[in-house]
Amino acid sequence: MTIIDIIEKKKHHEKLTEPELSFVITGMLDGSIADYQISALLMAIVLNGMDLEETIALTKVMLNSGDKIDLSPISGIIVDKHSTGGVGDKVTLVLGPLLAALGVKVAKMSGRGLGHTGGTIDKLESIPGYQVALREDEFIKQVNDIGIAVISQTGNIAPADKKLYALRDVTGTVDSIPLIASSIMSKKLASGADIIFIDVKVGKGALMKDLESAEALAQTMIEIGKRFDKTVICLLTNMNEPLGCAVGNALEVKESMDALKGYGPVDLMELVIEIAALVLNKTEKMDMEEARALCLKKINNGEAYQKFEQLVNSQHGDLKGLTVSDHIISVTTPKAGYIKSIDALRIGEIARELGAGRFKKTDAIDYAVGLVLTHKVGDYVEVNDELLKVYFNEKNVSLNEILSCFEISMDDSTKEPLIYKILS
Ligand code: URA
Repeated sequence: MTIIDIIEKKKHHEKLTEPELSFVITGMLDGSIADYQISALLMAIVLNGMDLEETIALTKVMLNSGDKIDLSPISGIIVDKHSTGGVGDKVTLVLGPLLAALGVKVAKMSGRGLGHTGGTIDKLESIPGYQVALREDEFIKQVNDIGIAVISQTGNIAPADKKLYALRDVTGTVDSIPLIASSIMSKKLASGADIIFIDVKVGKGALMKDLESAEALAQTMIEIGKRFDKTVICLLTNMNEPLGCAVGNALEVKESMDALKGYGPVDLMELVIEIAALVLNKTEKMDMEEARALCLKKINNGEAYQKFEQLVNSQHGDLKGLTVSDHIISVTTPKAGYIKSIDALRIGEIARELGAGRFKKTDAIDYAVGLVLTHKVGDYVEVNDELLKVYFNEKNVSLNEILSCFEISMDDSTKEPLIYKILS
């Protein structure tokens, strides 16, 4: 067996076997297969797909490429939450502390930005000193002590995914259902949670552009979960406009802190509370109305924010050092009307161009830059009203590029739902 035969096979739409996928992953990790060969295979998979059996085999091989975390020293049902990636998606930063305040154990391993989408770990690293790497015993101790830890995928959890993820980010091979499903599920299965909630983002700013493909991705992950005896619950949620207002690392942390204090943007608050209520509903059989009310109580009485501070302190972060750029431009509208759409994909790309994301694996992130929307879809604006603020440092983007993200018209637009569907 050679890597060239395997690339040829996928190029000709043939099915790959588990031994072949194992050969690829082993070779990638021991360096006997070059990154450019892996990239060629990834592109063939993006173009020609994989069926469910191949996707399950790839997940298994990736899962077995590293360690599996044993969370049995943590008592109670352990919940994990993952997002397929969106623009302004800071749900983990708000939901994690809220769940911990509700008494749910959150043992969370998160990822870095991928393509135009941001990643929780990059966001947390905008807090000076925040340690994203903890040893397994430290991770478990922290969850037992304060109910929450958020770390990066540790050294040896699904190392195959770590390598593939970084390559996919810079080779235009992110958007593939089998690659996304196996990437997410290998990590989630290795991370040891009992119930896995996956927020499948749908729309312009998401990896899945339409409901049909989002549903196909969700079903694939649910099927993989079944094969490995895990409950997977998928929420299909709207990513046609950025979630919340802030896009960019430190800016998103600040917005998450506001949300934890009860004054976050409406869509972010709604999504966080719905997911938290669903977690209580599934784990404690709590009625959804009662669960929503309890979530609001934990936010309004300050416990959710205190959990966030406890999390940051435990992982050595210093919130006083959180900085956003003081080079700020206000972008105003040349036209009055209702905001019909805000192109989340372009907004994500602009944030990346400002330095909030990477174009090459080795790019350093500028945590202080990004954009903050002043208005969301459905709002009415007068001529010269502010649409957003741009926080920049060395790199800037053109005004026209920013204005082209907004569609403004005199029709009174109807807002789309935030949560389309819940599948399990
Ligand atoms: N999130 C992941 O963890 N992997 C992907 O491939 C896409 C989103």
